[in-house]
Amino acid sequence: MEVKQAKITAVGHYLPEFRMTNFELEKLMDTNDEWIRTRTGISERRILKDPDKATAFMGAEAAKEALESSGTSAEEIDLIVLATVTPDYLFPATACLVQNMIGATNAFAFDVSAACSGFLYALSTGSMYIEAGRAKKVLVIGADKMSSILDYTDRTTSILFGDGAGAVILEESTDGTGIIDQIHHSEGDTNCSLYQHAGGSRNPATIETVKNRQHHVTQDGRAVFKKATMGMADVSLEIMEKNNLEPEDIAWLVPHQANLRIIDATANRMGLSSEKVMINIDKYGNTTAGTIPLCLYDWKDKLNHGDNLILAAFGGGFTWGAIYLKWGLK
Ligand code: UT7
Repeated sequence: MEVKQAKITAVGHYLPEFRMTNFELEKLMDTNDEWIRTRTGISERRILKDPDKATAFMGAEAAKEALESSGTSAEEIDLIVLATVTPDYLFPATACLVQNMIGATNAFAFDVSAACSGFLYALSTGSMYIEAGRAKKVLVIGADKMSSILDYTDRTTSILFGDGAGAVILEESTDGTGIIDQIHHSEGDTNCSLYQHAGGSRNPATIETVKNRQHHVTQDGRAVFKKATMGMADVSLEIMEKNNLEPEDIAWLVPHQANLRIIDATANRMGLSSEKVMINIDKYGNTTAGTIPLCLYDWKDKLNHGDNLILAAFGGGFTWGAIYLKWGLK
């Protein structure tokens, strides 16, 4: 079978208008702007306030922008892969809701659940369909309404996350640009370091699970910090070595935005200076599956055709990975 190469041919995004600053959080809990900025790098995050809108809405808006920017009609899309941990419903898949919202009547659609590595896993999955010649145009979306699962009485997690979505279109590449390599890892976390305990089949919703606040994200911050710092840097070095890349060969690191200290540690281990690292955690916080496509969107005008990018993420599961791609948009 002839293996094709997949490349990103369009990028779109959606961010809710409401900005929740660290100062707003100071009013809700025992925290302060200085602690949040120095420990995480976050100054504000976006929150989707409209109770009638959720992850599918944000994903659809990001998708529409990607479609419009490339002059692609929704009917041309063969597949939608959407990464999220905050689906509108446990089922049907949020990707199917997006399909309906944008009118992608010829696509099949499914979700990927890999927490903060979700977009990378979804991008890999989507690229395989292009590489195998099974799809011509694939929409890959990372979208999360994290505010829907945050406990605003828990200062250790609620300050970290925000809402947002990004989307890309993948198509066959004929010019050598596109996704060159991908490495993914998982390690089942039995210590419940980063979990939403209730709402699934293990602990279905009851009055008790609601009272005990088990439908929110809980995290052992220190344990996850250690694993994330190690995992994201290790896999980034692994993909550099595998592809004989020196620091000077890399134009941009596109890291998952969980904590500025994790991003800095990864860039240091890779030998990259800070000018080569995409950072927008200050404005959006951790949008889970949204962070990497939101970076690509924010930086798209600074990227040159053929630039070497390393995308890297670590998240709940545990899941982590890196993708090496040559930027294919002109
Ligand atoms: O994206 C998915 C993966 N997730 C991550 O990668 C997140 C990884 N973890 C982290 O980013 C960091 O561990 C946190 C930002 C969550 C916490 O930072 P830390 O430097 O690890 O702080 P800590 O948990 O060690 O807490 C230090 C102190 C504690 O007080 P004591 O025990 O030293 O008196 C906490 O109670 O900071 C306190 N603290 C806070 N203080 C003010 C914890 N949260 C807050 C807060 N405001 N929001």
